[in-house]
Amino acid sequence: MKGKSGKLFIFSSILTFLLAMFFSQCIDKDKPKADIRGTAYADPATCIKCHKEVYTNYNQTGHYHASQPVAANHLQAGIAATDSQFVFNDSVKIKVEKRKSGLYQVAYFKGKKVRDERFDIAFGSAEKAQTYAYWRGKKIYQLPLTYSTSAHNWVNSPGYPANLVYYNRLVVGRCFECHASFADRKFVATGGLTVDEEFDKDAMLYGIDCQRCHGPAANHVNYHTENPGDKQPKFIKPYKSLTRQQKLDMCGVCHSGSDLKAERSTFNFHPGDTLMNFFDPAFGAVNHDPDVHGNQTKLLAMSKCFANSATMTCTTCHSSHEKETGNLVGYSQKCMTCHKAEDHNFCKMAPKLGDAITTKCVDCHMPALPSKVISFKMTDAKETSPYLLRTHRIAIYPEQTAGVLQMLKNNHNKR
Ligand code: HEC
Ligand code: HEC
Ligand code: HEC
Ligand code: HEC
Ligand code: HEC
Ligand code: HEC
Ligand code: HEC
Repeated sequence: MKGKSGKLFIFSSILTFLLAMFFSQCIDKDKPKADIRGTAYADPATCIKCHKEVYTNYNQTGHYHASQPVAANHLQAGIAATDSQFVFNDSVKIKVEKRKSGLYQVAYFKGKKVRDERFDIAFGSAEKAQTYAYWRGKKIYQLPLTYSTSAHNWVNSPGYPANLVYYNRLVVGRCFECHASFADRKFVATGGLTVDEEFDKDAMLYGIDCQRCHGPAANHVNYHTENPGDKQPKFIKPYKSLTRQQKLDMCGVCHSGSDLKAERSTFNFHPGDTLMNFFDPAFGAVNHDPDVHGNQTKLLAMSKCFANSATMTCTTCHSSHEKETGNLVGYSQKCMTCHKAEDHNFCKMAPKLGDAITTKCVDCHMPALPSKVISFKMTDAKETSPYLLRTHRIAIYPEQTAGVLQMLKNNHNKR
């Protein structure tokens, strides 16, 4: 008898334990998750409760997709579907292969497989390009092939040798500082003078989230949850309270080029901070020829529009939460908030252009120019294809003007 009730006791204890586990998990699901950045940060998913429209629009942007983990069926259909290979020469090629455990970049020498690594992380939303990386232990390495959206094909990753398969380039924390919300990184000595960077797989926050721009918001969320009647924002820095330089710094964290040497992690940058304090002044030498890639802040500063107006910032033309790429008509309208047809400072070309002018400001004054630091080598080709970006030095470009005029003439003749 004793044995039976003992067993019953053990059985009911286990049942109680399992039920307790089950219910505690249910309760946990409703409780906001802790954020790996610390208690000052709210669970990124909670913003949707009170900012639904901003949140759902924002999830379509390049910022939101600036980095992400790659799942087996994750890459856009087009990428996975192409006859995916990159040919270096007669004996060396890399193929993109789909397997049960994911997508791989597989290197072949004279038809024999020599190396394969999996797509684990994607950098870039693939607006123009997407680069990939794989984990080995705590280190992250870049994969040799990048996808070029404009070429609809695989290209040699920027800066990679043209005749050599190369899997050993480390991905550094700086990539994540501009492409993610957080990455827990440690520096480890590798002997000699070199250090490697190691990451914690479980402490990565991919993509750029709300708090990356707006700063930690746990107190904001707690306050407004407890005071639903208060419509004045609390415990969050309103953008309009920032000075012009502070506004520019809020975007400049990731749009001031990568030629500056960071002294402190820019993950700790919050709106209102001074960006220059994050960089080593000795390496912050003035660059008189900023590249179109990643350096919109300095190029814009070289424009007369910026220098001669008191208010121009990035948000004069860009909305922060919406995907707006390709809406060049909309951008031209922004120009005309300051350059009106009836004013003395309107375009001198206006008489020549007629109605066409109202939609084409940007094509002549902010042309897409090739980056000097990034270009892609095409498969089996000797030549490289350029990485084109809109210059933010708003100015007069005679060559591009000639091109646009020719295009308008051709369109006119066709009609
Ligand atoms: C945490 C780094 C970071 C911050 C802060 C940041 N950006 Fe970006 N931005 C990026 C990256 C990375 C991309 C490339 C995204 C991709 O992969 O397409 C980008 C892309 C863009 C684009 C191209 C369009 C698009 O959606 O892809 C615009 C415009 C832009 N940023 C404007 C801004 C403005 C304006 C601000 C300030 C309000 C800002 N950015 C702040 C990192 C940042
Ligand atoms: C790239 C930086 C950036 C990111 C990321 C970002 N914001 Fe903003 N946000 C801004 C800027 C700049 C402004 C002020 C100017 C404007 O309205 O464009 C702003 C304004 C706001 C405002 C007040 C005005 C409005 O548009 O309603 C709210 C609320 C807001 N953001 C919430 C969010 C939430 C929620 C997220 C995440 C889903 C988010 N933001 C992501 C830069 C950003
Ligand atoms: C419980 C409701 C609630 C939650 C959750 C919430 N907010 Fe807000 N937030 C508000 C209210 C109320 C305002 C003021 C009215 C407005 O601008 O919508 C506000 C305003 C803002 C503003 C604009 C400040 C300004 O005026 O420039 C930003 C930025 C912002 N919130 C960011 C966030 C972020 C990021 C999150 C998620 C981490 C978040 N909020 C979650 C209630 C909330
Ligand atoms: C200083 C900030 C910064 C750093 C560091 C940085 N990026 Fe970027 N990256 C950007 C910005 C801004 C853009 C978008 C516009 C541009 O090129 O100016 C971008 C664009 C890209 C794109 C194209 C995205 C698209 O949708 O077309 C890829 C791919 C990319 N970066 C990969 C990387 C990798 C890999 C690293 C590290 C080796 C890295 N980036 C380091 C800021 C940065
Ligand atoms: C915030 C107001 C503002 C906006 C928006 C603006 N500009 Fe300007 N722009 C100016 C000012 C101020 C000048 C200096 C000349 C003057 O005072 O008339 C200027 C000068 C120029 C010049 C002469 C440059 C030179 O080197 O001689 C061009 C071209 C120009 N703008 C084109 C544009 C275009 C194209 C856009 C839209 C992409 C634009 N601007 C948006 C204020 C603005
Ligand atoms: C006078 C208007 C104007 C201002 C101010 C402005 N931009 Fe832009 N930006 C544009 C236009 C136009 C494009 C091209 C959009 C397109 O092709 O879809 C663009 C494109 C971009 C891109 C994508 C690059 C590309 O070639 O696709 C980034 C990143 C960007 N802007 C960042 C910024 C940042 C950061 C600031 C502030 C330092 C800023 N912009 C200020 C007009 C402006
Ligand atoms: C077909 C190319 C083209 C287009 C489209 C175009 N511009 Fe221009 N713009 C030029 C050229 C070239 C000049 C210099 C003309 C000169 O000095 O004789 C110029 C001059 C200017 C100037 C300087 C005027 C001054 O005071 O000297 C401004 C400002 C300007 N454009 C703004 C604009 C705006 C705003 C738009 C769109 C509404 C626009 N442009 C559309 C080619 C163009």
